[in-house]
Amino acid sequence: MGTWPGSFGAVPAGTGSSTAAGLKRIAHTGRVARPKVLLNCASSLDGKIAAPDGQGLPLSDDLDWRRVHHMRAGADAILVGVGTILKDDPALKIKEDLAPISPTRKLLRVILDARGRTPKTARAVDGSTPSLILHGPGVRGTWAHAQHAEVPLDEHGRIQLGPALELLHARGVRVLMVEGGATVIRAFLNSDFVDQWTLYQAPVLVGGTGPSIFDGRPSMIGRRLHVENVEPRGKGVLWTLRP
Ligand SMILES: NC(=O)c1ccc[n+]([C@@H]2O[C@H](COP(=O)([O-])OP(=O)(O)OC[C@H]3O[C@@H](n4cnc5c(N)ncnc54)[C@H](OP(=O)(O)O)[C@@H]3O)[C@@H](O)[C@H]2O)c1
Repeated sequence: MGTWPGSFGAVPAGTGSSTAAGLKRIAHTGRVARPKVLLNCASSLDGKIAAPDGQGLPLSDDLDWRRVHHMRAGADAILVGVGTILKDDPALKIKEDLAPISPTRKLLRVILDARGRTPKTARAVDGSTPSLILHGPGVRGTWAHAQHAEVPLDEHGRIQLGPALELLHARGVRVLMVEGGATVIRAFLNSDFVDQWTLYQAPVLVGGTGPSIFDGRPSMIGRRLHVENVEPRGKGVLWTLRP
């Protein structure tokens, strides 16, 4: 079973070198200077975060959406996987009517995208606020309005989270909100890089084999979290958990 150190930003990275733009391949040392990582998602009672066919489900209610936008407003960057971009095409922005934000504050939108599959027309790379695509070797950046950076891949061909977080820290990201989707949430839950997990549970059962925060892999079994808070909220329940 893995451990979550529960600290951030204080350990020497040793590999924080970067290009002039602050973007360059970095070597993974195992210990990284990283942002504080806040994982957030909404699920059904059985851990599903979307419908069985992968389409979005209205799991959050208005009250919870307001909370999510306030969380975004307090973060420096939001991160999702390319699966969410391809399925939902989210804008990943802050709605000002839900959470006022200073016009000078620009939230960075980060996409884990090993093979560079993010469409040029995706809303998350529309240039209205900064975007950064983290990809593996051999990807040519063709996004007109997004920066991109190469990050080492793991043995499964996925972006290594440690170097990705180190790179974001080197770019000044101190608070990172991770919003999904299922594969990315599971990757973070199986890592040592989560400082807080807010989970909004809607009182519904979805069933099926659609996107889920649990996939039954052994590393998840027996991981006991600290319940910082649990409260009925709107139509569901909000858990605030810590490693
Ligand atoms: N309820 C919620 O809170 C919520 C929030 C967001 C999304 N969603 C739902 O989540 C679903 C999408 O989930 P998903 O699992 O298909 O996609 P995802 O988690 O958004 O993206 C997964 C993809 O990201 C890429 N990736 C690169 N490095 C990775 C790494 N280290 N760890 C994990 N992924 C990495 C991989 O594609 P490559 O190999 O091509 O790089 C991987 O297939 C949608 O149905 C959406 O509606 C729900």
